[in-house]
Amino acid sequence: MTTKLLGTSLEEITLAAERIRQGEVVGFPTETVYGLGANARDERAVRAIFEAKGRPADNPLIVHISDLSMLREIVTDIPPLAQKLADVFMPGALTMVLPKHESIPLVTSGGLYTVGVRMPKHPVARELIRISGVPIAAPSANRSGSPSPTTAQHVYTDMQGRIPMILDGGSCEGGVESTVICFDDRDTIHVLRPGLVTPEALSRFAPRVLVDKAVYAPVAEGERVASPGMKYKHYAPKARILPIDTDDFASFAKFVKGHANERDYCLVFDDDPSIEGIACLRYGSTGAERAFALFRRFRELDELGAEHVYVRIPPKSGEDLSVYNRLLRASGFEVISL
Ligand code: TXA
Ligand code: MG
Repeated sequence: MTTKLLGTSLEEITLAAERIRQGEVVGFPTETVYGLGANARDERAVRAIFEAKGRPADNPLIVHISDLSMLREIVTDIPPLAQKLADVFMPGALTMVLPKHESIPLVTSGGLYTVGVRMPKHPVARELIRISGVPIAAPSANRSGSPSPTTAQHVYTDMQGRIPMILDGGSCEGGVESTVICFDDRDTIHVLRPGLVTPEALSRFAPRVLVDKAVYAPVAEGERVASPGMKYKHYAPKARILPIDTDDFASFAKFVKGHANERDYCLVFDDDPSIEGIACLRYGSTGAERAFALFRRFRELDELGAEHVYVRIPPKSGEDLSVYNRLLRASGFEVISL
């Protein structure tokens, strides 16, 4: 199969929507990362997503809608807190896990009786869903295990020959995947995967916001997890990622100088000084900038042939919590504390 890169004119979105209706898989932009979409109600089409991505069948997909009125076709219960969050954060980078409607097959939900639902803000994603006339199941458009794609070129690199087309909507403004939440009870939001909708922002709407322990620490073999995606090592470039936990740049620089060889790099903040003798890439000076840059830098580091990458870890709050979590997972949770 040859993979065509299309633009985002109405004609091109309509062509992609026809493919979706025919049960095929297409790459498309959202404001977080690119997705690999198919009709969420079509079991065969959904299986083709798992196949193209090389994804384990127990890792559920997010179902994307173009309008809040579609919510009731995807989930059977919308508690008052979920409705409040939907009114504020949809469209946007928030995925809510709720009881699954029977029209969504178990293949889509990875065998669970709940389903993650999101209404993207990106106009191309919304048009694609609207014209297709079906909810679109979509994981991030990377091959399983590699960094999520934030440009159509990244999708092409991973999916060339595996899908018929990609809508090229340029760079994704967010850069990390959506915040995934579920509800423990009527007052408690449980963050399963941090994203740009931060725990701080969510706590304006609920008395309790808990961040799942799998965000900070590896899941033990055989342990039950709230979000199956958190089990898998993830987002990893080919280079070995070594997050270094220290507030003190001088100790970071000293450690790197003592350990790095000539094929190694470091990934630091924009206003950090350079370190003599080692190539430094920068990934921003705020949480939002670091979220935007992280996966891009991972892919660049692979192109540079980096062997080890020493990364200054960001704060563990706000938008940076999502960056911190992706760094932990890219490193297999092996943080070096100085
Ligand atoms: O920003 C995003 O969320 C992107 C764009 C394309 O929308 N999508 C994305 O999908 O990142 P994916 O499949 O790569 O990640 C979905 C995450 C996984 O960690 C999965 O385990 C979790 O959401 N998830 C989905 N449905 C769930 C459910 N019913 N219960 C618990 N976790 C769920
Ligand atoms: Mg993913």
